[in-house]
Amino acid sequence: MEKGPDVIMQDLTPKVYLQTYGCQMNKLDSEVMLGLLAKEGYRCVGRPEEADVILYNTCSVREHAEDKVWSELGFLRALKKEHPEKILGITGCMAQNVKELVFKRAPHVDLVVGTGEEHRIAELIEGIRQGERQTLAVEIDHGRAPDPAVFQTTQRGSQVKAWVEIMAGCDQMCAYCVVPFTRGRERSRPARDILDEVKGLADRGFKEVTLLGQNVNAYGQDLGGEEDFAELLHQLNQRSAISRIRFLTSHPNNATSRLAQVMAEAERVCEHLHLPVQTGSDRILKLMNRGYTVDDYRSLVDEFRSAVPGISITTDLIVGFPTETEEEFAMTLDLVRELEFDSAFLFKYSPRKGTAAYWMRDDVEEEIKKRRHQEILALVQEISLRKHRAQEGSEVEILVERHARKGPQTWVGRARDFRKVVFRGEGSYLGRFVNVRITEGRVDHLLGTPQ
Ligand code: 5AD
Ligand code: SF4
Repeated sequence: MEKGPDVIMQDLTPKVYLQTYGCQMNKLDSEVMLGLLAKEGYRCVGRPEEADVILYNTCSVREHAEDKVWSELGFLRALKKEHPEKILGITGCMAQNVKELVFKRAPHVDLVVGTGEEHRIAELIEGIRQGERQTLAVEIDHGRAPDPAVFQTTQRGSQVKAWVEIMAGCDQMCAYCVVPFTRGRERSRPARDILDEVKGLADRGFKEVTLLGQNVNAYGQDLGGEEDFAELLHQLNQRSAISRIRFLTSHPNNATSRLAQVMAEAERVCEHLHLPVQTGSDRILKLMNRGYTVDDYRSLVDEFRSAVPGISITTDLIVGFPTETEEEFAMTLDLVRELEFDSAFLFKYSPRKGTAAYWMRDDVEEEIKKRRHQEILALVQEISLRKHRAQEGSEVEILVERHARKGPQTWVGRARDFRKVVFRGEGSYLGRFVNVRITEGRVDHLLGTPQ
């Protein structure tokens, strides 16, 4: 039998398939893991069937997010049976949350890696390759920020914009939220490491960074209080050459006047604030342990709107928190109407084990949650459409991020206030700043023509 040609053509590069769920922080974690694996010679593939290592980087924020992963794992049972040599791993928030339970419910999984040990991904996979079975790595080093070296190989999904982790974890303990358990206590990265990373990105041609943390406004509190978030923004504005700086997410409790001032003055910092309010009822805010009242929130929005011209303010809202009445839901609608958010992410309350709210009865029926969700969505969309239409005829500078899904001649960019603008244009616009005249406002984007 002639075996020669086959042997020569065999591709020995290890291949990894990685599927990501959840927020931007999780997406960044995936890019970091892919970078660490690429350093060890791995190549990324688009289907689990082609991969030697199959990873799911998971989210726990709502039950639905975990359910999707359980069902994916169900599908993979057959593939793993046929190819027991393939390594199957679960990483991220759900791994941290359910830990060894993954092995109980899905015994074909080889590896469970929590949010604190993802930087060891290559070594953990190697252990399995060497014959270890069912490795559980779920320690969180509460005292330490990640080593800057792990970010050096990050495989960015875009050439134009990049996420930069400025802190991990969350200390807020909102009653509904699993994140303090899945991501641990707040750990800020030293300002110098962040500055170096942003400078490096600017040198490599990136135009925009988004600074990430569960609550960026708490940045520095664990470092002894000398560096705060507003100061970090100020420093990045002064000392880096990146064109645009964004950040996510701000908790109303720590959004300071100094932050508004820096946003107004720092020319690289974009005029967009994502400031989750969650509900328009003081009673529910208290049950949620949010630490502010609707009036406090209203004053903050006033302050940022008057200090930062052109700012857009977006929010998160939860409907159907335990005991939420029809009147309290109506207060949320009223607040949305009054504050005219530029956009909002809407969620139906989902009980999470281990959280304070888990002990309250999830007493708002699913049908009612659905109806409230739809009602609020209709209102949010009506406001967005009205605001977008009001922009017709105006000119705005956008940074072009990517092609639209429609085709090669259609581009997507964003204004400084985070509005999405779609336009047609021949040639290469990727990564360019373009002035666009707005021709039509739609619900979730604007159409325009380059000037
Ligand atoms: N149920 C529904 N929504 C939730 N969020 C966080 N935890 C839950 C939960 N248990 C929402 C909040 C938060 C966003 C990221 O997800 O609105 O701001
Ligand atoms: Fe992100 Fe929260 Fe989901 Fe974790 S649980 S991936 S922090 S949204």
